[in-house]
Amino acid sequence: MARINENFLKLPGSYLFSEVAKRRKAYVEAHPEAQLISLGIGDVTLPLTPSAISALHKGVDEMSRAETFRGYGPEQGYAFLRESIAKRDYGDRGIKIEPDDIFIGDGAKSDTGNIGDIFGLDNKVAVCDPVYPVYIDTNAMAGRAGNYDAATGKWDRLIYVPGNEDNGFVPDVPDLKGADAPDLIYLCFPNNPTGTVATRAQLKAWVDYALENGSVILFDAAYEAYITDPEIPHSIFEIPGAENCSIEFRSFSKNAGFTGLRCSYTVIPRSLKVGGVSLNSLWNRRHNTKFNGTPYIVQLAADSVYTEEGEKETRALVDYYLENAKIIRTGLEKAGFSVWGGVNSPYVWLKTIDGMSSWEFFDYLLTKLNIVGTPGSGFGPSGAGYFRLTGFGSRENTLRAVERIKKGKLV
Ligand SMILES: Cc1ncc(COP(=O)(O)O)c(C=O)c1O
Repeated sequence: MARINENFLKLPGSYLFSEVAKRRKAYVEAHPEAQLISLGIGDVTLPLTPSAISALHKGVDEMSRAETFRGYGPEQGYAFLRESIAKRDYGDRGIKIEPDDIFIGDGAKSDTGNIGDIFGLDNKVAVCDPVYPVYIDTNAMAGRAGNYDAATGKWDRLIYVPGNEDNGFVPDVPDLKGADAPDLIYLCFPNNPTGTVATRAQLKAWVDYALENGSVILFDAAYEAYITDPEIPHSIFEIPGAENCSIEFRSFSKNAGFTGLRCSYTVIPRSLKVGGVSLNSLWNRRHNTKFNGTPYIVQLAADSVYTEEGEKETRALVDYYLENAKIIRTGLEKAGFSVWGGVNSPYVWLKTIDGMSSWEFFDYLLTKLNIVGTPGSGFGPSGAGYFRLTGFGSRENTLRAVERIKKGKLV
């Protein structure tokens, strides 16, 4: 008789966004005249750039002719895109990454979710708290997280590294050493949900810790394009030694607006070995077996980001969302909120007022100001009492929402 993977039964329901949708729907039904503004979404809203669109057209035309048609491509991605990435995202920043270190994927969600395939189930996994939930849920599905305790909101085999006001929501390396140290460490900077970034010194502390303890850092840099401060590293590989202990994930979703097109990449330097085994060769084996490549036309569109025109257009998208985030951040500060992120990041993280819980604040924003955001507690126990707003809305709605928050009433 077939048996299911029982780990799936341990997963709590994805309460956060379904609860947000439920409360929003109930409010709209009771107040059909309300003009709700959503600053809760993590999805982009502006269309693709003209460069990406013309690359897609070109690809479609090629597919329509026998001489230029392409079927299966290389599982790892086309050389033209891997070469552009190696040169432009790494070489130009003085980082030595070769095209063979790069695997093109169909999204950082799948890449960060699937990477666990190449690691043993007995690895101890550390996640930051609050956190992008994919890291936790995929480890829970694999059986690496243990059991979920609804009372604490934690899995009993995961190591939670807290982000809080004391560390400015940039978690410090844990006190755990040697056999107690985590084997796999998920880091995400610029961070979702807190919008914080790690300095060179902070990233160095993590890399040194990983090298000392034989850990592997899984570095999610999906929001790298939002970094404008020249002092903030764009890649974990800017830190010496990271090439021996880190894997990096990047995406075209939040810079070039590919959330619907789907393209990402994973960088595994061939120098990275665990127990003498190259993780690059394991992931290559996994990729060859389970993945048949990101569509050719999508890779062409991704490559357009590296043309002169494409780069300018992509920058304009990112700048638009960054300006929204800045408007939210400065507006909230003026209104007396404690705020993190919103600089080098599309996410703004704020402390609720009057000791409200994250959900009480959600209801306050929804019912009094007709704004929808995301309760921080949904990203982990350390998010309780905090709230996330995003710069992905329209400029007009962002300005209106901030006016409402500043005035404490509907405008
Ligand atoms: C931290 C983080 N990583 C990865 C992703 C997923 O990106 P992709 O669209 O490339 O799957 C997201 C999406 O919101 C994210 O916030």
